[in-house]
Amino acid sequence: MSFHDQVIYQVYPKSYRDSSGNGVGDLRGVLEKVPYIASLGVDMVWLNPFYVSPQNDNGYDIADYYRIDPDMGTMEDFQELVAALGEYGIGVMVDMVLNHVSTEHEWFQRALAGEQKYRDYFYLRLAQPDGSLPTTWESKFGGPAWSPFGGTDLYYLHLYDTTQADLNWHNPQVRAELHRVVNFWKSKGVRGFRFDVLNVIGKSEVLRNATPGENEKLLYTDTEQVHTWVKELNQQTFGGTPGLLTVGEMSSTTIENSVRYTRPDSRELDMVFSFHHLKVDYDRGEKWSDVPFDFMALKGVLTDWSVGIQAGGGWQALFWNNHDQPRAINRFGDPGLYREESATMLAAAIHLGRGTPYIYQGEEIGMIDPAYESMDDYVDIESHKAYRTLVDRGLSSEQAFRVVASKSRDNSRTPMQWDASEFAGFSEVQPWLRPTSQALMSVERQEAEGKILPFYRRLVELRHQMPLIAEGSYEPFAREHQSVYGFIREYQGQKLLVLCNFYGADTAVELAAEFAVGKVLVCNYKNCPDLTTAEGRLTLRPYETVAVLVD
Ligand code: NOJ
Repeated sequence: MSFHDQVIYQVYPKSYRDSSGNGVGDLRGVLEKVPYIASLGVDMVWLNPFYVSPQNDNGYDIADYYRIDPDMGTMEDFQELVAALGEYGIGVMVDMVLNHVSTEHEWFQRALAGEQKYRDYFYLRLAQPDGSLPTTWESKFGGPAWSPFGGTDLYYLHLYDTTQADLNWHNPQVRAELHRVVNFWKSKGVRGFRFDVLNVIGKSEVLRNATPGENEKLLYTDTEQVHTWVKELNQQTFGGTPGLLTVGEMSSTTIENSVRYTRPDSRELDMVFSFHHLKVDYDRGEKWSDVPFDFMALKGVLTDWSVGIQAGGGWQALFWNNHDQPRAINRFGDPGLYREESATMLAAAIHLGRGTPYIYQGEEIGMIDPAYESMDDYVDIESHKAYRTLVDRGLSSEQAFRVVASKSRDNSRTPMQWDASEFAGFSEVQPWLRPTSQALMSVERQEAEGKILPFYRRLVELRHQMPLIAEGSYEPFAREHQSVYGFIREYQGQKLLVLCNFYGADTAVELAAEFAVGKVLVCNYKNCPDLTTAEGRLTLRPYETVAVLVD
C-alpha cells in the first residue's frame, strides 16, 4: 500500500505545550493536545528530538540516545503519547540525529579520557605541518569545522556547533551502535524516522581542502558512501517493516541524488527534504541577508524538482516551514494585509502537489514571525553567531539585527498559540522563548472564525479521498507567468489544475478550454471564481488559489 495519501504534522515539543509549568514544552503537553492533532486529520506526527541533551542546539546535540530529557518527560510519557495517537490511527515519527553527538555524550567523554576505542568513533586529526587546522572546512554555523580535542595535539571535526562532534561512520562499530539506536526506537512502537542531515555522513577517510574552484561541501555531501551506508541502515533497521515511513533531511542535495535516495528499488528511504526552494530569498547564496524573494526562481525550483523527481521515479517531502526556517508567510506572502489569503494559497501550492506534505505546528493557524526588538529575545545559537559575524563584517548593530530577524530559526520556534491569554495557552509562566505578540492568531480564534485551519483540514481530507492528489502525475502550467505558480495533476482520466497567485495584486491567467468546463474543487476566497463566465481567462485576486477539477 502506498503511503502517498498521508500527511505529516511536525511538533516541536519544546514549543507546543508546557504541562509541567517550567516554561518549556514537554511530551505530556503534546499528549494534552492529541485530540486537536487528530482533528487535523493527519496520519503521522514528527517529533523533534526529546532525548537527553545539553540543549546547545535545542536537542540536536544528543548526549544519550536511549533516554528522554527530564525537561521533556519520561519514557512512560512517550509510550503514553504513542498509544494515545495510535488510538486515532496516528503514527509517531522520531528524529534520529546520526551524523553527530553532543560532546557530553559518553562516547566523546571516553574518547577524551583516552580510550582508543572511542577515539575511533570520531574524526580526530593532527594540525597541518605549518600548524594550521587539518582542513579549511567551515562549520555550517560559522567558524572553523575543527576544534582542539581536549589537551591533545588533535582536533575533532564538527560540521555544526563545536559541541556537536561528527561521528566516524567508517568505523563499523559506530554504524552498529547507530543501528541499535534506530532499532531501539522501532521497538518502542514508532512508525517513522526523520534522519537529520543524513547526506553528510559520508566523508572520505582522507579529509582534504577543496582545490581552487571546487565546492568544499561536495567533499562530504551526497557521496557514494552515503548511499552505501543508507542502504545498510535500511537493511539493518527499518527496511521491510510494513507501514514504516522514512525521510532524510538532505543538505544541499541534487535531484539526481534525491531520486537515488527515494526510488523504491534503491531500498534507501521513502522521501527526502531538500531546501533549494527556501534559498530564493538569499542574496547571492548568502542566507544572512534580507532581500525580497525571487518568484521566478522559487517557481523554477518547485517545478524542476517536481518534474525531475517524478521522471526518476522518486518521491519528495513538500514543506514550507519547519523549526529551522522563518515563517513562509513572512517570506512569500503578506502577513499584514493578506495573512489568511497568503497562508491558504501557500498551503494549496504544496498540499495539491506531488509528494508528501508536512505541516509545521502553527502553520495551520497562520502564525507569523515574532516582532522582537532586541538580540536578547533570541535564544538560537546560530542566530547569535550570525549576528556577531555580520557586525564583524561591518554592518551596524541595527542592520545586523534586521538581517537576523528576517532569517532566525527562532522565528518558527515561538510557542504555539492556543488562545489569547498572557502566554498564549502554551504555559502559565514566561516561556523559554518569548511568545510572539500576535496573540490574535490562535487555535481558539481560528476555530471560532478563521479560514486557515478549516482550509488545512480540507486539504488533508482531499488527499485521503482523491487518488488524483495522492498519486497523480505532475505537469507544469503557465511556466512563464510572472506571478502565478501553476501545475496540472492527472490520474486515470481526471485532471486538476492548480493556480496560485503569489502577489497582492489581481492577475489574469489563460485557461485551456478543457478547464473552462471544469468545477472549482478548492478556492481560498469566500466566493470562488465562476468558470462559466471566465471565457478562457481567469483573473486571480491577491494571493488567490484555485484548483479546477476536470472529470
Ligand atoms: C538540522 C536540524 O533541523 C537543525 O535544527 C540542526 O541544527 C542541524 N540539523 C544539526 O543537527
